[in-house]
Amino acid sequence: MSAKVVVVGSLNMDLVTRAERLPRGGETLIGKSFATVSGGKGANQAVAAARLGAQVSMVGCVGDDAYGEQLRGALLAEQIDCQTVSVVEGSSGVALIVVDDSSQNAIVIVAGGNGQLTPEKVAGFDGVLQDGQVIICQLEVPLATVGYTLKRGRELGKTVILNPAPASGPLPAQWYGAIDYLIPNESEASALSGVAVDSLESAEVAASRLIAAGAGKVIITLGAQGSLFADGQRFEHFPAPRVKAIDTTAAGDTFVGGFAAALAAGKSEAEAIRFGQVAAALSVTRAGAQPSIPTLSDVQAFIPS
Ligand code: RIB
Repeated sequence: MSAKVVVVGSLNMDLVTRAERLPRGGETLIGKSFATVSGGKGANQAVAAARLGAQVSMVGCVGDDAYGEQLRGALLAEQIDCQTVSVVEGSSGVALIVVDDSSQNAIVIVAGGNGQLTPEKVAGFDGVLQDGQVIICQLEVPLATVGYTLKRGRELGKTVILNPAPASGPLPAQWYGAIDYLIPNESEASALSGVAVDSLESAEVAASRLIAAGAGKVIITLGAQGSLFADGQRFEHFPAPRVKAIDTTAAGDTFVGGFAAALAAGKSEAEAIRFGQVAAALSVTRAGAQPSIPTLSDVQAFIPS
């Protein structure tokens, strides 16, 4: 049986509209459709890891509203352990998402219950962290909580993954030494490193800076350009599978969850990256966050063994 993946992070209800293009400031556009979809970077990564073969525990907070119940229910339906998802007073996290005809999106999130996931709450679930083999964090919960979890994960000797999303600037310097795998996309890698990442070469420069800052290994996801792996000794480029993109929401989350599930299952780093890439590629061919995440058999059907 595969080792356990613990996700410490956000759950959001995604309010998704499709429109021909993204609106400009002050502009009103007529949308084409609207849907309410379970999302949140933490919950999406938990669903991806679970659908792709891992046992998963989710540590997070939802509000005491109808969205909170639905968000928890969506994880329970995937057999994700939700005993560590607390129900707190107030609204759940929400994400307002517009997806355009070229499959790009723009997202505004409101933390809601995610803002109440304190370091003390995570410390109260230490047994769950101890049970995990791989621990994943993102940046949609308070930074103090992320910092605490990374440090505790390192103390416990776990494989610690940080997906620094969304990122608006450099990470606290003391975090880097606790991170085994730092997995930003281009814009996050730019925000963290100060290098404008728009090519493989610039991704190599950014990755080198992040390794010099103390991250163990860095994987920069570059959308259709694939992923760049760096460990301080070498770089490796993993081209992306070619697919027709419909909606890129949660593609990064699917990569992270798939990569973690594959590592937990004992696959090599390179196999785990390819596995995460196939899962992410399949996710962009479908609409929405959690509904778009493929299962293990979808991925196995895509990768002939
Ligand atoms: O990464 C995609 C996710 O970002 C969405 O599900 C939305 O909730 C935002 O958090």
